Amino acid sequence: MWTAFILILPLTLSINPATWIGDNLNIIGDKTLKNLTMPGTHDSGTYWLTTTPMPGDQSDLWEDLYKLADILDEDVGNVAKEWAQSQDKNFYQQMQGGIRYFDLRAGWQNNTKKWVTYHFVEGSPVQYLLGNISSYLHDYPKEIVIVEMSHFEGSPTSAEITSLKNMVLNTLGPYLAPVDLSFNFTINQMINTGKRALVTMQQDYDSINIWPPSAIHNTYADTSDLKDMVEYNNKTVAKFMNGTWPGTLFKISWTLTPDTDTVLESVLPWKPSTLLELANNANKALPSFDTQMATYKWKAGNILIIDHFENSVVLKAACGFNGIPY
Ligand SMILES: *[C@@H]1O[C@H](CO)[C@@H](O)[C@H](O)[C@H]1NC(C)=O
Ligand SMILES: *[C@@H]1O[C@H](CO)[C@@H](O)[C@H](O)[C@H]1NC(C)=O
Ligand SMILES: *[C@@H]1O[C@H](CO)[C@@H](O)[C@H](O)[C@H]1NC(C)=O
Ligand SMILES: *[C@@H]1O[C@H](CO)[C@@H](O)[C@H](O)[C@H]1NC(C)=O
Ligand SMILES: *[C@@H]1O[C@H](CO)[C@@H](O)[C@H](O)[C@H]1NC(C)=O
Ligand SMILES: *[C@@H]1O[C@H](CO)[C@@H](O)[C@H](O)[C@H]1NC(C)=O
Repeated sequence: MWTAFILILPLTLSINPATWIGDNLNIIGDKTLKNLTMPGTHDSGTYWLTTTPMPGDQSDLWEDLYKLADILDEDVGNVAKEWAQSQDKNFYQQMQGGIRYFDLRAGWQNNTKKWVTYHFVEGSPVQYLLGNISSYLHDYPKEIVIVEMSHFEGSPTSAEITSLKNMVLNTLGPYLAPVDLSFNFTINQMINTGKRALVTMQQDYDSINIWPPSAIHNTYADTSDLKDMVEYNNKTVAKFMNGTWPGTLFKISWTLTPDTDTVLESVLPWKPSTLLELANNANKALPSFDTQMATYKWKAGNILIIDHFENSVVLKAACGFNGIPY
């Protein structure tokens, strides 16, 4: 009987992804966001996509997507979707899985007069994504979140961008962490005041409740080659550890970016034919990078983002950087 008890013990002590912040306030409560690494997703809203191209999307990859659609004799929307989807869980599920940062790309859909998320093609209304975050913060009063809203394509007018800001204020209002670029507030203070959502906007931020885009320092390797990506992030983490980066949270992207070859090689059976498959290649390499970072006593930035997150060790890695036993 006692043997059974001892065997069960480690399981009951392992972390719960849904509540990992609230459960570990004894370790991270007095730290600031600048002292921590938050696990996040890249192109967070792509878990559901239509086949309708986002008007005004400037990506160079469209030309390749058209070529591939031609080769495969398929609708370009279907082909684009395969190379656009980098997540398969909604925001509530992502937060249940431990994710605490969202890369929320918002495009203006001028026909329906709606803000939608997108990556090449259109996805869910932004209102749904914000609604999921609001539900989560309501259901889990000791959890926090960072949201970066950017890539406002679709030629929105300034009034339309203001309507996006009002949507944020209306949906997340009571949770919004007031702008304080000194970042001197602790996780405990965020939780005790209930101001648990830090939201940045590319434009029309009010600098009161909506943070400027400079509050997050973006880095990404912009390569489809795994070795180059690892090398880039090794150098970028070294740069992060060597500075204090006042007024900003430093973001590391553990992601591969498809290029012309990646897209056109979809037709080869041994090559990735979707962005999720490409992501799996990147994700397999995170554990050894994580081990190396740990031996140097380095942290992979304040925010570490990934594609296809549930198929990765991103939460385990972040917990390690934050001193939380996993
Ligand atoms: C936390 O970050 C602040 C800067 O925001 C720094 O002054 C402090 O030394 C850091 N504390 C720890 C425990 O790393
Ligand atoms: C958006 O739609 C309106 C009509 O509702 C039209 O007047 C305007 O030119 C459109 N804007 C763009 C950028 O297409
Ligand atoms: C989260 O958003 C999805 C739509 O993307 C919706 O179907 C679901 O009901 C929402 N869940 C919660 C808990 O708000
Ligand atoms: C953080 O610093 C600002 C000044 O930059 C100050 O007004 C604020 O009270 C400080 N907050 C905390 C929690 O120490
Ligand atoms: C990371 O950089 C260090 C030197 O700063 C080097 O010794 C190490 O081999 C590099 N690791 C990878 C995976 O590139
Ligand atoms: C570290 O920072 C100092 C000055 O801030 C700079 O001179 C040096 O080149 C940096 N080293 C690395 C490895 O980035």
